[in-house]
Amino acid sequence: MQFLHLALSLLTASTTVFAIEPLTIKGRKFFQNDTQFYVKGVAYQPQVDAEVTSTVIDPLADANNKNCSNDAKLIRSLGGNSIRVYSVNASLDHDYCMEAFKNESIYVFLDVANPSTGIDRANPTWTLTQYDSYKQVIDVFSKYNNTAGFFAGNEVVNNATNAASAAYVRSVVRDLKSYIKSKNYRSIPVGYAGADIPVIRNELAAYLTCNATNTPQDNATEADFLGYNNYEWCGDSNFYASGYAARTNELQNITVPIFFSEFGCNIIHPRIFTEVQAIYSKNMTDVWSGGIVYEFSEEVNGYGLVNITSTGERVKSVDFDNLKKQWATVNPEKVSKHSYQPLGNAPECPARNETSWAVTFEAFPVTPNASLCDDAVKNLRCSVNGDPEGAKIGQVFGELCFYDQEACADITSDPYNGRYGKFSGCTGKQQLSLALDAYTKHHGDDACSWGVYIAKLLLDNISPPRNKTVPPFIDV
Ligand SMILES: *[C@@H]1O[C@H](CO)[C@@H](O)[C@H](O)[C@H]1NC(C)=O
Ligand SMILES: *[C@@H]1O[C@H](CO)[C@@H](O)[C@H](O)[C@H]1NC(C)=O
Ligand SMILES: *[C@@H]1O[C@H](CO)[C@@H](O)[C@H](O)[C@H]1NC(C)=O
Ligand SMILES: *[C@@H]1O[C@H](CO)[C@@H](O)[C@H](O)[C@H]1NC(C)=O
Ligand SMILES: *[C@@H]1O[C@H](CO)[C@@H](O)[C@H](O)[C@H]1NC(C)=O
Ligand SMILES: *[C@@H]1O[C@H](CO)[C@@H](O)[C@H](O)[C@H]1NC(C)=O
Ligand SMILES: *[C@@H]1O[C@H](CO)[C@@H](O)[C@H](O)[C@H]1NC(C)=O
Ligand SMILES: *[C@@H]1O[C@H](CO)[C@@H](O)[C@H](O)[C@H]1NC(C)=O
Ligand SMILES: *[C@@H]1O[C@H](CO)[C@@H](O)[C@H](O)[C@H]1NC(C)=O
Ligand SMILES: *[C@@H]1O[C@H](CO)[C@@H](O)[C@H](O)[C@H]1NC(C)=O
Ligand SMILES: *[C@@H]1O[C@H](CO)[C@@H](O)[C@H](O)[C@H]1NC(C)=O
Ligand SMILES: *[C@@H]1O[C@H](CO)[C@@H](O)[C@H](O)[C@H]1NC(C)=O
Repeated sequence: MQFLHLALSLLTASTTVFAIEPLTIKGRKFFQNDTQFYVKGVAYQPQVDAEVTSTVIDPLADANNKNCSNDAKLIRSLGGNSIRVYSVNASLDHDYCMEAFKNESIYVFLDVANPSTGIDRANPTWTLTQYDSYKQVIDVFSKYNNTAGFFAGNEVVNNATNAASAAYVRSVVRDLKSYIKSKNYRSIPVGYAGADIPVIRNELAAYLTCNATNTPQDNATEADFLGYNNYEWCGDSNFYASGYAARTNELQNITVPIFFSEFGCNIIHPRIFTEVQAIYSKNMTDVWSGGIVYEFSEEVNGYGLVNITSTGERVKSVDFDNLKKQWATVNPEKVSKHSYQPLGNAPECPARNETSWAVTFEAFPVTPNASLCDDAVKNLRCSVNGDPEGAKIGQVFGELCFYDQEACADITSDPYNGRYGKFSGCTGKQQLSLALDAYTKHHGDDACSWGVYIAKLLLDNISPPRNKTVPPFIDV
């Protein structure tokens, strides 16, 4: 373990303008100019002394402390060429940090969601509220040439039983791609980072990249790349024992770039990172484009390459040096973009199956549409005032839809059968108004006050009664 002392000259930002060539994709490979690019990345989300709050600690908004430029140099010295950032606050200024990473030729893969805007696998939604927050991230980061790609989701789907959430991921991908195009931004790819779940990994990869012929036929809805968070190689494993050989074989027909969006099992300490030899070897480079090591800073889960002290100093761990040695010795074969011939057709879409893949590819969630929703809530007989909290709104739906499923038809969805309510992309508040109004149409005007009554109970943390005594008009 050694202390890192940065010379003063390194702290003074150079004023030289340094260009970085935006990454592009052809077939299943990344390119920088005409040369293939392999990701050698580090997950970067220091959470120094973070308390669990809803505030996003944005690692790319730290202009005052120069941490980004120091860290960019450190990651460059490690041999890295990319970072992955999980969560940013789009309202902050990111110029300083993005420039600092660019100056070290480091690309940024960025998750568009933060903990409060991501897709909930148990109760997936794709709403205006989410779309707007993702758009803000894209508006900010699409201007940087070193933005390598956006992750539309991270580990959303984790079981065949919640495969429905994959339909939502695919819709997010579709809509972010179309948004980027509509704004004439650089064509930054949009992908997904998946958890390594044996029962669904092949279905999920196919589902997100397959050619669903009911959608536009110009790669407009497929994921542009796939990340796998994979911790199978622990200690001094090998290509076969680790599962890497099997994973490579399973993904051989995927037509987009794939890389490890997280790797670096820490069950055995210190980490020696021998998997790096396999990842950048001929055994894997046909299918894989490198990987991102989890993670830059030491946090409670113990994956840090550096320890950040209370004064902000970075203390390298032995893992840092081990990884550096491994990265320095690999030299993967690179194809040139102009001569590279992509694979043929995208894989078949996986068939729906109640137990092994509980969603159909024959329809996808609707694109959230602000004017459709605004028009729909004009002149309702019953609507919601104020600004109720999302979670509470969900509980009110629970009650309302329990009593009157039909009133909820336009705001709810059934991904297994490919039915998505036409207002399912509206904000929670709009949806509640629409459902209350439909309920009122079925049950008379008094029902509106019932809805308001239920909402009030829930907002006051009181469980509403589910029996015949109150209110009288409910037929249960
Ligand atoms: C790649 O493009 C960048 C920016 O346009 C340029 O500065 C650089 O020389 C190019 N590199 C190669 C190897 O062509
Ligand atoms: C984002 O930053 C703004 C401005 O500092 C702050 O008001 C807001 O609470 C932050 N949002 C999150 C989610 O951290
Ligand atoms: C971004 O890259 C493009 C194309 O290589 C180049 O024309 C442009 O000047 C670059 N922009 C910045 C801010 O470096
Ligand atoms: C996946 O679903 C099955 C069947 O419902 C359940 O037994 C299993 O625990 C679930 N696995 C996870 C990781 O949630
Ligand atoms: C998808 O399939 C259709 C019909 O087979 C084909 O015409 C189209 O080129 C395919 N698109 C892609 C992106 O593979
Ligand atoms: C998607 O297709 C368009 C042309 O329709 C192409 O310009 C773009 O590079 C493709 N994107 C990817 C990531 O392959
Ligand atoms: C990949 O495609 C080939 C040729 O169509 C097929 O034989 C093979 O089974 C496929 N492999 C997987 C894992 O899907
Ligand atoms: C590549 O695969 C071969 C067997 O096909 C194996 O012997 C070798 O160790 C593997 N190489 C790496 C670097 O994992
Ligand atoms: C950034 O640097 C300052 C000053 O060195 C330090 O106090 C702070 O903890 C650092 N923040 C992070 C996230 O490392
Ligand atoms: C960070 O410091 C703690 C406490 O001194 C130590 O237990 C841990 O091993 C260190 N981690 C790294 C990555 O050096
Ligand atoms: C659904 O998947 C299970 C497990 O793979 C399989 O046993 C079953 O036959 C499938 N059902 C249908 C209708 O294809
Ligand atoms: C109806 O529910 C309320 C609140 O939970 C409870 O106080 C009341 O006793 C219930 N009435 C009947 C008849 O169950």
